[in-house]
Amino acid sequence: MMLHHLRRNYKCIAVYPAFSTWKPESGSDSYAIMSMGKFADEEQASLYAQYRPTYPETVFKTIVEYLNRGSTLERNSQDSFDLAVDVGCGSGQSTVPLCKYFKHVIGYDVSETQISHAPDNMENVTFKVGPGEDLSFLADGSTDLITSAQAVHWLDRDKFYAEVRRVLKPGGVCAVYGYGINRLDDLEAQTINEQFYKDYVYPYLHECSKLCYDHYKFIERPFDNCQLIENDEISIRREMPLEAYIGFLASASSWRKYLQSHPSSDVLHKLAEKYRTIYKGASISVHWPVFILIGRKPV
Ligand SMILES: C[S@@+](CC[C@H](N)C(=O)[O-])C[C@H]1O[C@@H](n2cnc3c(N)ncnc32)[C@H](O)[C@@H]1O
Repeated sequence: MMLHHLRRNYKCIAVYPAFSTWKPESGSDSYAIMSMGKFADEEQASLYAQYRPTYPETVFKTIVEYLNRGSTLERNSQDSFDLAVDVGCGSGQSTVPLCKYFKHVIGYDVSETQISHAPDNMENVTFKVGPGEDLSFLADGSTDLITSAQAVHWLDRDKFYAEVRRVLKPGGVCAVYGYGINRLDDLEAQTINEQFYKDYVYPYLHECSKLCYDHYKFIERPFDNCQLIENDEISIRREMPLEAYIGFLASASSWRKYLQSHPSSDVLHKLAEKYRTIYKGASISVHWPVFILIGRKPV
């Protein structure tokens, strides 16, 4: 079922516990290898493309406004910037919305399977396979914006940020962003949701995901001037049919890890039954808090 038409923007308020102050070892290739394995699974890539939420336009406006503010970068005749590169782009959820602000946008991901689910009909967007720690296809000082959505916690930040500092133009911007744990509007459904996360997500959570669930408060930064933006305006809110919400849960890395040791689990089936009783065919209101860590290469 195609659910892209369900993607709409609205507000969200959520409070979450801190998960960790975990710091990864740097200088290791194991990041790229680990995440290649994690996101190369065809079923997960397909679930991702169908059920992962896209971001509200306010996220891209916030990033581009930041880029505009005090920027000395040149624009082309359409008043758009030259080049944006979206690292860890998956199937293009975070890449395609940039196309109206930039002459050329590159979506870049280590997983060929994820890229195979990205759209291939966009005039000024190209997709490319490779690790974010190696941006050698980009010249020094060539790029206006580097983004990474729901992905930088999987990368070796020492290597990635060194590349970010090299390829950005002076005054160029790096924005790494993502979303935290979702909440449901209905109180009874949210209680069940919390229990599901407690039993089947948190115990299987990869250390990298904890950085994301902590809203990048404890993650390394590419520039000293980086700031963390979090507000209602940039949060994601969706009305989803039951199947889409279950599809979203099924696409999570931690759930897929649980499945490896419990391949015939009927947990999601039973969860769907409970929600069916509560919602009686109505759509499910889901909120995700979004956070953006953004900074500028000094001029
Ligand atoms: C959670 S998905 C996010 C996809 C998309 N940006 C979004 O916002 O929905 C994380 C993506 O990061 C990619 N990834 C993980 N490690 C990477 C690396 N070292 N270099 C490039 N991409 C990587 C994965 O293949 C996966 O597609």
